[in-house]
Amino acid sequence: MCPPGRKAPRGSVTGRRTARLVMADPVRVTDATDPRLADYVRLTDTHLRRSLEAAEGLFIAEGDKVIRRAIAAGYPLRSMLVADDKLAAIADIAMASMAPCYVVPAVVAERLTRYRVHRGALASMRRLPIPPAAEVLAAAERIVVLEDIVDHANVGAVFRCAAALGIDAVLLAPRCADPLYRRAVKVSMGAVFAVPYSRLPDWREGLAWLRGLGFRLLALTPDPAATPIGQIAADGKMALLIGSEGGGLSPRWLAGADQAVRIPMSRQVDSLNAASAAPIACYLLAPARHDAS
Ligand SMILES: C[S@@+](CC[C@H](N)C(=O)[O-])C[C@H]1O[C@@H](n2cnc3c(N)ncnc32)[C@H](O)[C@@H]1O
Repeated sequence: MCPPGRKAPRGSVTGRRTARLVMADPVRVTDATDPRLADYVRLTDTHLRRSLEAAEGLFIAEGDKVIRRAIAAGYPLRSMLVADDKLAAIADIAMASMAPCYVVPAVVAERLTRYRVHRGALASMRRLPIPPAAEVLAAAERIVVLEDIVDHANVGAVFRCAAALGIDAVLLAPRCADPLYRRAVKVSMGAVFAVPYSRLPDWREGLAWLRGLGFRLLALTPDPAATPIGQIAADGKMALLIGSEGGGLSPRWLAGADQAVRIPMSRQVDSLNAASAAPIACYLLAPARHDAS
């Protein structure tokens, strides 16, 4: 595949021979151990990926829609990897970029990444510096604060809900999972690029600092002693604190919040998943912000 008006280089997918090499033209690769594909190696190995992505300053976006959103948000493209039968879906991106686009047989993609790349296209994107929390919160009225959520899918789902339900920013406690990890990016459908976020530098003093910025701190908890969410007035600057999958909010954060708030539940379950509690709370506490049409 070659852009209209451009000639295909040697080794390109079309196989036509020309003397000129156009950098953005797709490059066919058939060897999963080719070092040019190193950004995409063993995508299901969380341990390896964490260190590789941190060392290289990259993250992986999956599927043409999400790749487009990452680019639109200003993340630079390092390269793309696409199964040969899916090239058409991202050909325009490849043409518009100087980054290499590697075209591989589906079996090579699977051998390299260790999973079946259903969405066909992967992109390696360059990370950008995370802005300081104070900058992200400067004009924010409604925020979600995640304490130590470790499941990337939950982090992605919370970002998707935040984008949809009028949340201005997401703040992550220092141990919270990386929103740019592949699974979080995928589950969020690119909302991690749309919702401003930052990390609290200091877990211990984090809530006092937020209160100093004028936020009312609401600790979401299934505790039956907490105030039912329907009784909470949705006004002023509010921070919705959501706890980890296992233990929930830490005792320090529960004690440091202004109010404990619960979503009333049937007594047959102990709690909602964090990613299920978040949209209910956001919907109820940022009501003026939804499109009612
Ligand atoms: C899986 S729950 C944690 C359960 C933990 N055993 C607890 O008691 O908090 C993860 C997070 O989702 C939120 N959550 C879950 N159920 C909730 C409910 N009924 N009301 C308010 N928040 C809830 C809380 O922020 C909680 O920390």
